[in-house]
Amino acid sequence: MSPQDNTPQDCAGPAAVIVLAAGAGTRMKSRVPKILHTIGGTSMVGHALAAAKGLNPAKLAVVVRHERDLVAAHIAELDDTAQIVDQDEIPGTGRAVQQALTALDAQGLVQGTVVVTYGDVPLLTTELLAELVATHTSDKNAVTVLTAVLEDAAGYGRILRHEDGTVLGIREHKDATDAEREIREINSGIYAFDAGVLRQALTGVTTDNNQGEMYLTDVLSLARNDGGRVAAVSTTDRWQVEGANDRVQLSALGAEHNRRIVQAWMRAGVSVIDPATTWIDSTVQLAQDVTILPGTQLHGLTTVGSDAVVGPDSTLRDVQIAAGAEVTRTHGTGAIIGAGAHVGPFTYLRPGTVLGADGKIGAFYETKNVVIGRGSKLSHLGYAGDAEIGEDTNIGCGNITANFDGVNKHRTVIGSGVRTGSNTVFVAPVNVGDGAFTGAGAIVRKDVPAGALSLTVAPQRNAEGWTSANRPGSVSAQAAANAKN
Ligand code: UD1
Ligand code: CA
Repeated sequence: MSPQDNTPQDCAGPAAVIVLAAGAGTRMKSRVPKILHTIGGTSMVGHALAAAKGLNPAKLAVVVRHERDLVAAHIAELDDTAQIVDQDEIPGTGRAVQQALTALDAQGLVQGTVVVTYGDVPLLTTELLAELVATHTSDKNAVTVLTAVLEDAAGYGRILRHEDGTVLGIREHKDATDAEREIREINSGIYAFDAGVLRQALTGVTTDNNQGEMYLTDVLSLARNDGGRVAAVSTTDRWQVEGANDRVQLSALGAEHNRRIVQAWMRAGVSVIDPATTWIDSTVQLAQDVTILPGTQLHGLTTVGSDAVVGPDSTLRDVQIAAGAEVTRTHGTGAIIGAGAHVGPFTYLRPGTVLGADGKIGAFYETKNVVIGRGSKLSHLGYAGDAEIGEDTNIGCGNITANFDGVNKHRTVIGSGVRTGSNTVFVAPVNVGDGAFTGAGAIVRKDVPAGALSLTVAPQRNAEGWTSANRPGSVSAQAAANAKN
């Protein structure tokens, strides 16, 4: 199942989407470029690209400048078909779009609808973009701008409307009169343009304004003056048009993103006991009738099969949990947990852990790079690494695979139907055959044949009367004296 609202549209998409991502993002106060900061496990620009790609555009361009190489490399990883466009020293959203359109035109003149979005508006969905494009197309608009009505519109460009409701243009906050600043309908910065209108109008955009920038917003009044229809689609979902400029906004957007993901999973048939303490990345997949207990974070490519129960207090990244498994108070990365298996509480699963169906890795166990067969149990206190364990084997309490000789790692291979005594140490490389037993405290340095019992026997000596002789007057001596009476 998937709760994503960036489900690709099945109709033909717009001619192009241009994602603006050249800005510096200084208010993040970070060495990491702003649009590489993540929400729900995906970078902000990753969210922007996902929403854009859902539209099935014929061409996709991303405009970069600040930390150009880092940003371009990240975008190439996400989508190697996206065209990276470098913005020159002329500032402003108008210049950014002009350079992108010129770059796209170089491979064949763009005709039809051009959508513009931002790299730092992570909650925008394909669904809302598709609504914008549908209105733009069916109303035969020259420009359609996505707007929202905000309680506090400070800082945003304001939508100027004619008495008849049609859009006259956009006034930037810094250029606005006091009366214009009273307007609460704001420009989201997301638009659908007719390519020809956009190309033509951009030639008339200057830097003659308060900020000395080429404003993309000037295109609206220029298009209207040329006789084009300029209209607005207003959304009541302000989160979808909100950008993250600092880390306070980033965390607010992250919480809202998570709230939406968790709610979508609940609607799709997953029980989430405490949405407020449950964090689920947008890349996670959950099946029907999964139960997530409080304090659980599911990251990356984690998948959970039907009827499995995860949590409380578990953090899992790239962990595959099969149907009916239970994972309790566990920290795990890169592990595979079989159907009906049990993990936890207080268990640390490291990469390469594979637990077979109906198996168990119990309390205070650490595992790494170990394949455990069906029905085998490692119930309490131990470490299993660089090992292979067969089926229906019981590993006793406190067992350790001593896999590291200080220089190299070695493998331990334990067969099926094996029973190991408490505190067995397997000094790798070593093999233990099927149906073998080990005694308590065994130190297995040599291979154990199938069906053998391996004992490490040190003789036990009892020194009678030791306590009263060596700890006179102690609680222990008193207890020993009482035992004699
Ligand atoms: C812009 C809009 C404003 C709108 C607001 C919504 C203009 C002139 N103003 O204002 O009407 O209400 O967004 O958030 O468009 N960018 C570039 N190159 C540049 C400048 C910006 O790629 O030269 C990118 C930024 O990385 C960012 C986006 O464009 O993703 C918006 O830039 P920003 O400086 O935040 O625009 P605002 O001044 O907030
Ligand atoms: Ca902004």
